[in-house]
Parts: sequence; structure tokens; C-alpha cells
Amino acid sequence: MEIRAILLTTQRKIILGIESSCDETAAAVVSGGDTILSSIVASQIAIHRKYGGVVPELASREHLRQIVPVVREALEQAGITLQDLDAVAVTRGPGLVGALLVGITYGKVLAKALGKPLIGVNHLEGHVHAVFLEAHAAKLTPPELPAACLIVSGGHTVIYSVKSDQGSADSNGAARPASLGGRSFSSDIKPASSAGVLSPEAPNGAAHFSYERLGGTRDDAAGEAYDKVARLLALGYPGGPVMDQLAQHGNPRAIRFGEPKMKGNVYDFSFSGIKTAVLYHLKRHPELQPEIDARKEALARGERSADALRKLASAATLDLIASFQRAVVDDLVARTIAAAQQNNLRSILVSGGVAANRELRASFEAEAKRHNLAVFFPSRALSTDNAAMIAAAGYPRFVAGQHEDATLNAEPNLPLA
Ligand code: KG4
Ligand code: ZN
Repeated sequence: MEIRAILLTTQRKIILGIESSCDETAAAVVSGGDTILSSIVASQIAIHRKYGGVVPELASREHLRQIVPVVREALEQAGITLQDLDAVAVTRGPGLVGALLVGITYGKVLAKALGKPLIGVNHLEGHVHAVFLEAHAAKLTPPELPAACLIVSGGHTVIYSVKSDQGSADSNGAARPASLGGRSFSSDIKPASSAGVLSPEAPNGAAHFSYERLGGTRDDAAGEAYDKVARLLALGYPGGPVMDQLAQHGNPRAIRFGEPKMKGNVYDFSFSGIKTAVLYHLKRHPELQPEIDARKEALARGERSADALRKLASAATLDLIASFQRAVVDDLVARTIAAAQQNNLRSILVSGGVAANRELRASFEAEAKRHNLAVFFPSRALSTDNAAMIAAAGYPRFVAGQHEDATLNAEPNLPLA
């Protein structure tokens, strides 16, 4: 119980985060808004795999099964008890309504039973905070604001500008005290005195951000495009990780996918066209069908590793995968860099499941450097859905006294801005 003793003497506020917006049941304990004490994620991939995507009813049922053990495990790994918590933060949206309701209902009951505040968190704001959590964990200088944040996952592809909030209205739509405005993660998130003791009001980790939506996908999310193309090519679910690996073995210049033709906002994306282009490519190349059938059989036998699937992929298929990835990555990087440059933003934050993609990372690093911008990614564990980011995003709300009551409800389409 050493951790517990330290926490109790430093008075760093401890928040339990709960995340259940899609297909991961997650709970995490975060102290002071910036230090992860535990982060548990129960993935439902194995359940949804055979349907090639998330089945909402199955997701809700699985969240119900997992939520209690996942929270228990998070507390155990953090070395604390329920009584040590200062607040419970839960994802209120966006996401699948039935899935969200499991976490919200559990969070409500827990907070009520403990007599502790309940904090509602926007899932997308969680993804932004994941970048700051990572910077803190890696002892990096935190990203300079204002920043462009690309959130890119199976459910979202959107660019926000992220600023230090000046204190009017916040991203959950509620007014908040101006005294907490203008904070970003900087040296002032460290303990305020040499004894490491914070006053309860100290804005430790209380990075309140404000957001402006600069652009986003008009149809499929980028991760969704990966998953749909992986389905066409019989590469398993989710498609991103395997395609990322296989793309290394193909020629990214072999096939030219035209850029999406879109009028209007230059920071908008569209990925449904490229998925259709892959479909037509396969129709024009029926010789690729036997290997697709062979991979289907391999997947049915449980052989889903990139190595196993690569043995069943011709050079033509590897070229197709590499070219698809190149087109998607180029588009994500170009529009995000343009958004940062044209809006005088100082850094780039990239979060969400697709942020794990190695070519996306390499390309962002290279392009950001060329344009004199710093780029930040969370680790893989913090890129994909997790509850540490929810606890971290809940922290400034907790400090600002933005508590929810029993009327907190799931908001499947909750915008961030
Ligand atoms: O954030 P996440 O775990 O869940 C949500 O969608 O909210 O992201 C999962 C998505 C899937 O579409 C998956 O194919 C994609 O992220 N993904 C990747 C990679 N790893 C995961 N896409 C491309 N490259 C990757 N390495
Ligand atoms: Zn997410």
C-alpha cells in the first residue's frame, strides 16, 4: 500500500475514469489529472470479429459483463480502495447509446454510493488529453498551444484547433469559473510546494481547453476505411494493424488513387471513395480472388497474424495495400498540416486508434519537421480507447466544480465543438 500512503499525503486528487462508448470496457485511476496509476482495457474484438465490425447489442451486453471486474482490477492495480477516490469520471458521448449507458449508469450508482462527485466527459476530449498524459509520462515538454489535433480512429476522423481556454463556455457546454482559464500543461502542473503538497484549489493538471472544429470526414472514418478494405481483401478485423504491417512489403506508388473531389472546406476528409476504388480494382482483377478465398479460409482457422496472411498475399495485393495506405496517410497528413499552418497553430496532436500506424507517424514526423511544427502522438495504449484519458479530461472539470447529477444521460452525437 505504499502508493496509497503517498497519494494520501500529497493530496493529489484521485479520479476513477470509466469508458464504454464503443467496444472497449475500460477503467483507470489517475492522480492529479496527469499520473496514471492503473489503466485496464477489456477489448471486445474477439466478439465482434466474425461480424467484421462492432455489433451494438453485443457491445452493450459485453460491457455489462465486464464493467465490475474491470473497475475492480483498476483499483487493485492502483493499490487503492473505492473510499480513496475523489471523483468518478465517465464518458457521456459520443458513442453507441447502449454501450455508453452501461458506463454512465455504473458511474452514477458508484458516485452516489460513495458520496463522491460524478463528472461527465466528452470522449473526444479524452483523446486530446491522451496526448498530454503521454507527454507527462514520457517527461516530454508538453505540446505548445494552440495546436491542431487530428483524432483518427474507427469512429472518428476530425481536426480541432485546441486552445488554452480563456474561461467562457467549455466543451461540455457549461459555464466555468474564469479563474481557471488560460492553463495549459506546463511546469505549473507539478506539485506546488517543495513538499509536493497541493492546495485543493491548485490547478494541478487542470488544463482546460477550448476547441474549434476545423474539419472532419464527410463519410467514413479513416479506421473504418481500413476495416472495410481489410474485409474486401480478407485480412481480418480490425484491418488497420495487419494492413499497416503488410503495407511495408508493397510498392506504395504501384496504384494511383485519385484524391477525393470535394468542394468547400479544405480540411474535410472523404474515405468512402477510396474504399469503392479498391472494390472496383478487385473487380477488374479477378485473378486476385483465389488468394482472397485462401485468406478467408486461413482466418476461419484462426490464422490471422500479419505473417500468416502475408504468405497468402501476392505482390499485386501487397502493392494494393501499400498504395491504399499511402493515399490515406498522405491525405490525413496534408490536411492536418495545412490546418495547423493556415490557422497559426504551433503543434500537431494525433490521437485515436489509427495514430498507431507507423507510416502515419513517420510521415507526420517528416512533414511537421519540414514545416517547423512539433508533432505529438500518444503511445499505442493511450491512442486506442482507454479510461485514463477520460479520468484526465475529467480532472479540470472536477477542479472547476462541474459535477453531474442523476440526470446525466448518454449523448450518442455529443459534439466537442
Ligand atoms: O480508437 P480505436 O481503438 O477505436 C475506435 O474506433 O474508437 O480505433 C480502432 C481503429 C480500427 O478501425 C483499426 O483498424 C484502426 O483503428 N487501427 C489502425 C491501426 N491500429 C488500429 N489503422 C491503421 N494502422 C494501424 N496500425
Ligand atoms: Zn475513441
